[in-house]
Amino acid sequence: MQKGPNFSLGYRQHVDIYGWVRLARSSQIVHVNEMHSNDLEYQIKYFLEIDKIGRIQFANNTYLRAFIRKILSARGNERLLDLGCGIGTVGKLLSPLFKNGGEIVGIDLNHELVEYGNDHWARPPHIRLEVGDANNIPYPERYFQIVTSMGLYENVANLDRVLSETLRVLTRPGKILSIHIDMDRFIVTPCPEFNRRCYKDFVRGMQVVGIDVDAKRFITTCKRRNLIFKEFQFVMEYKTQITDNFIKIMKEMMQSYYQNKKIMQKFVEFHFQFMRWIGWSYSEVWDAVHYLYSHSDQVAFLIKHKGEIYYRKTPMRIFLIQIFEESQI
Ligand SMILES: C[S@@+](CC[C@H](N)C(=O)[O-])C[C@H]1O[C@@H](n2cnc3c(N)ncnc32)[C@H](O)[C@@H]1O
Repeated sequence: MQKGPNFSLGYRQHVDIYGWVRLARSSQIVHVNEMHSNDLEYQIKYFLEIDKIGRIQFANNTYLRAFIRKILSARGNERLLDLGCGIGTVGKLLSPLFKNGGEIVGIDLNHELVEYGNDHWARPPHIRLEVGDANNIPYPERYFQIVTSMGLYENVANLDRVLSETLRVLTRPGKILSIHIDMDRFIVTPCPEFNRRCYKDFVRGMQVVGIDVDAKRFITTCKRRNLIFKEFQFVMEYKTQITDNFIKIMKEMMQSYYQNKKIMQKFVEFHFQFMRWIGWSYSEVWDAVHYLYSHSDQVAFLIKHKGEIYYRKTPMRIFLIQIFEESQI
């Protein structure tokens, strides 16, 4: 593995964080190395809610951007709509590809995320985020050449309706790019057994409430509607040695959450939405979340594993649907 550039900020210079990103398309696998430097610090400083954690990794991932550039083969002057944009992660990721007169619009139901994204990331008029519902997209027919989304189609209650709306605002020809995080294959190691069990139950709970974790519903709906798609895989892997500095950063990050009662409350409520359906009581979820973020326990675990390799893998499934003419749909 190659060594990346030095970190520009003080304490990070001593942390060896290598992001190892694997691009895979069908059987063709390309290995590349990437330095992921900013993530932890960004999380500590700026990201205050669960939906924002880790988003910066996507938004700044040049390999993911290059990969999407290749499969989208965009000219850079298109209008792109990002559905369920959250704080604008996908828009931020793709914005360098649309500087040739292109325009990126994100819509999300959650006005807090939209405001946050506009304040921190969006650069109107090139990229802007708006409050809007994917069930009733506030744009005219055939307005966008590309519609993207990450984590939207698996969450919506009425996928058919949202797909119809997507197709309504899409030009012919047009492209839909949907990114699904493959939660079943997400891996962090070393990881306390309790954390692992909580995560498994969390994903199971999501499945029970109908979230399309394995993309089955998305695939069958596309097939039923004769939407022909290609599936790609992109796997992000991070490797770093568990050093004193790594432990210090993790501790600071957990502390920043743990000491903020409002955030902890949000975490509890977020997880309870799903875990209640597989038998967790509110107080059990409360205890679990407080354990997961209690720096004393988690840090003690990391200290026990000092010197070992910390490894995290986030697999993504990327679906590309190309629409050429009306008769296709
Ligand atoms: C899993 S999050 C993904 C956010 C963002 N795409 C990202 O990856 O950072 C799903 C997002 O979809 C939004 N959402 C859910 N239903 C929606 C709808 N009907 N219309 C617009 N946004 C919606 C949620 O508010 C949330 O921000």
